[in-house]
Amino acid sequence: MKTHTLLMPLDMHLHLRDGVMLENIAPLTAYSFSGAIIMPNLVPPVTSLKDVKAYKERIMAAVPNDYFEPYMTIFYKNYDKAFLESVADEITAIKLYPAGITTNSEDGVSSFDIEKMRPTLEAMSALEIPLCVHGETDGFVMDREAEFMSVYESLATSFPNLKIIMEHITTKAAVEMLDKHDNLYATITVHHLLLTLDDVIGGMMMPHNFCKPIAKRPEDLDALLNIALKAHPKVMFGSDSAPHPKDKKESSGCAAGVFTAPIALQLLCEIFDQYNKLDNLQTFVSDNAQSIYRICPEFKEIILENRPFVVPDNYSGVIPMYAKETIGWAIENVE
Ligand code: DOR
Ligand code: ZN
Repeated sequence: MKTHTLLMPLDMHLHLRDGVMLENIAPLTAYSFSGAIIMPNLVPPVTSLKDVKAYKERIMAAVPNDYFEPYMTIFYKNYDKAFLESVADEITAIKLYPAGITTNSEDGVSSFDIEKMRPTLEAMSALEIPLCVHGETDGFVMDREAEFMSVYESLATSFPNLKIIMEHITTKAAVEMLDKHDNLYATITVHHLLLTLDDVIGGMMMPHNFCKPIAKRPEDLDALLNIALKAHPKVMFGSDSAPHPKDKKESSGCAAGVFTAPIALQLLCEIFDQYNKLDNLQTFVSDNAQSIYRICPEFKEIILENRPFVVPDNYSGVIPMYAKETIGWAIENVE
């Protein structure tokens, strides 16, 4: 049977939540990944040194062993330099949300006035703290990411020493931005390598495929696949796995988020194998992130097998993508 080995997989964009959800969900990622960038959009968001230390402790208490590193983030505000210096050793990045654009982002940024942001972003540049951005405007839902490209341009040119990560990109427009500015990078989810809008609302409405940014057009999917499959050095895997309880997804006013954490590596193997690019998966799922973020994860070896795997119908009440469906790869062993 065909197998494929991955070393130190990293998930560079992950939602773990808090409380019982955290306890149930964090072990799923800790099992197969060496580390993950942890999103700060709790209620209330993670905005202080005390918050971030305490949240990291709760995450470590929820995972069954020490072989998992939560790379912590705080929620962007126009912080001053003294604060950033005090928190720099505890965090790997700062996550910026436009206000109200997605789940728990109400306290985000309501104006992208570069001069107002300058003190914070210059301090982040000096302290080498990367800025992760949820790049969507409040425009028409299919155009939100493309419309945000002008904000990326002005951030990238105004702060040339700031590492800016375009999170969970979904469009050809974002792919094209990567080569325009040295300081722009991107994460790509596994669901955006598989879905278009048709898989969300083209037939029956599929709430478990609904997320922000929403899956786009076939040509966008092709652009994402192209850049991921060749493991372009400026792209990294970031699942954006976003657990919500079943009743929050299967309801009117369905929450945004696709839950992929326990099947992400299996799906990535399936996609890369389908295009005969398995040799590039290690770079996409770990090596690029190590160079971009300058991190050295704990050793972990994951062996995957090319055999059918039936995705469970839920994980502690959270419905995964492809629930009850059969996918082509399974995790065989983790060391
Ligand atoms: O679909 C999403 N869900 N997109 C986000 O940006 C946030 C996430 C969540 O926290 O549920
Ligand atoms: Zn996210």
